[in-house]
Amino acid sequence: MSKQRIAIIGAGPSGIAALRAFQSAQRQGAKIPEVVCFEKQDDWGGQWNYNWRSGIDKYGEPVHSSMYRNLWSNGPKEALEFAEYTFDEHFGRPISSYPPREALWDYIDGRVRKTDVKDKVQFSTAVRWIEYNGEDDNFTVTVENLRSKTTSSSEFDRVIVATGHFSFPNVPDVKGIETFPGTLHHAHDFRGAEKLADKRVLLIGASYSAEDIGVQAFKMGARSVTMSYRTRPQGYKWPEGMEELPGIDHFDGETVHFINGETREFDAVILCTGYLHKYPFLASDLALSSPNNIYPAGLYRGVVWQKNPKLYYLGAQDQWFTFNMFDAQAWYVRDLIMGRAKLPSAEERAAHVKQWRARFQALDGDADDVQFQADYIRDLIEATDYPMFDLDEVVRIFLAWKEDKKQNILTYRDKQHRSVMTGTMAAEHHTTWLNELDDSLERYLSTPERSDIEELVHGKPEEAEPAAKA
Ligand SMILES: Cc1cc2nc3c(=O)[nH]c(=O)nc-3n(C[C@H](O)[C@H](O)[C@H](O)COP(=O)(O)OP(=O)(O)OC[C@H]3O[C@@H](n4cnc5c(N)ncnc54)[C@H](O)[C@@H]3O)c2cc1C
Ligand SMILES: NC(=O)c1ccc[n+]([C@@H]2O[C@H](COP(=O)([O-])OP(=O)(O)OC[C@H]3O[C@@H](n4cnc5c(N)ncnc54)[C@H](OP(=O)(O)O)[C@@H]3O)[C@@H](O)[C@H]2O)c1
Repeated sequence: MSKQRIAIIGAGPSGIAALRAFQSAQRQGAKIPEVVCFEKQDDWGGQWNYNWRSGIDKYGEPVHSSMYRNLWSNGPKEALEFAEYTFDEHFGRPISSYPPREALWDYIDGRVRKTDVKDKVQFSTAVRWIEYNGEDDNFTVTVENLRSKTTSSSEFDRVIVATGHFSFPNVPDVKGIETFPGTLHHAHDFRGAEKLADKRVLLIGASYSAEDIGVQAFKMGARSVTMSYRTRPQGYKWPEGMEELPGIDHFDGETVHFINGETREFDAVILCTGYLHKYPFLASDLALSSPNNIYPAGLYRGVVWQKNPKLYYLGAQDQWFTFNMFDAQAWYVRDLIMGRAKLPSAEERAAHVKQWRARFQALDGDADDVQFQADYIRDLIEATDYPMFDLDEVVRIFLAWKEDKKQNILTYRDKQHRSVMTGTMAAEHHTTWLNELDDSLERYLSTPERSDIEELVHGKPEEAEPAAKA
């Protein structure tokens, strides 16, 4: 029998998890299918592969990453750590709990850097269309090599979609917004807050992008930061200069009228209104269509497309857990593909989805959500040989993180948590997040002199006055 051919679409953390899952089985002596991963960017890492461009990339493709230069992890790294490749193993020493983007890219890359996994990735190759062939029970995958500008098609037995869902911005219309004369864009195109210094900034939205771009703007000296919520305020104790207001009634030039009757004037507006699940390479009977939530409908165990169980999605959920959840999903999908795990009948799968969706719909608040996602991951790991870890302890870390944010939204990133994988307590970073203006990996891993840090925080000591002439 010829080898199964598996297509993985995207080489972000989820796609890499799939590659790693197959490699792990191979290392243990198993015969693995032929795996080909298509990645439209020149390198892997997905969102973590920072792109200074916004809008269109150098190939004329929509820019994928929504990350900005000065992005630091917004959740503790102890909650996302791979169970089979720890931070200690990668960095060789304890690091802080909230690393900057470059450090996390380095960690993702480091797990697979020294292996042949990268050879399975066709970079600068965008997947254009995937067609299911009922008669042959396989898929035709059509791709474009963006460098050579050539298209080609080939057949695969199974397809794993790992293209992420935080790249196509949700851009709502707001009455009168076209009259706003200042800078106006979506968080997807935000690349850094420096230019917001001394500006009056309005962020529309009340989730992670609004919160983090808000505190970034504050850090970089915005004159004021206003965040507008549709459903409920974030409710943190904001520092002076930051505030939350309800929804917007209309714009009138630079003046914004809120539904509670208040008005403010702004220089810059950023839509932090989230993202759309969008799969332009899939017909509607294969494409997931869902709001951003932690248990999208139509996916058995959050990964198997119910209408065609040879199509899988990784990382399609809203994310408390990230990297280790993608691993758990990838290991399970690998086992289904390799026949190590048995796929239940369509009826059993539907009943399973129904049961988990009912539980999901009854969730009440963040603590419930985190526990639900932990239980979901446990269920997947129990079905595979991925190393189990103390998921309940990670839930406690998440709750401590929420509490730290409640105490002080500007200092939660200065706190430390203990790894559930190694027991290592995180290091204290040499500079507090609010004072750290250099987000590079080099600076992050450096050990600056105490006097340099004091200078950063308090400014240079006054130059000594030249001695007066006698
Ligand atoms: C602004 C922002 C900040 C975040 N911060 C954090 C954080 O601090 N901590 C955390 O744990 N998570 C964070 N996340 C969540 C983030 O989504 C995950 O960490 C992770 O990147 C998801 O991995 P993924 O592989 O599923 O998707 P992505 O990382 O989005 O990767 C998808 C890959 O698919 C490729 N692709 C897309 N379409 C095609 C196509 N047609 N053909 C070929 N390739 C294609 C893309 O180029 C990309 O490389 C953040 C997300 C955003 C948007
Ligand atoms: N590392 C970091 O620091 C960092 C920074 C930014 C983002 N992220 C990650 O990026 C991902 C996406 O976060 P996100 O905040 O962009 O998206 P999100 O969590 O999906 O939130 C979208 C927000 O937009 C609001 N919204 C949607 N449509 C609206 C409308 N028409 N009018 C007003 N408000 C509207 C929603 O309000 P409702 O609640 O009313 O629906 C919600 O507050 C998350 O995984 C997050 O962790 C991380």
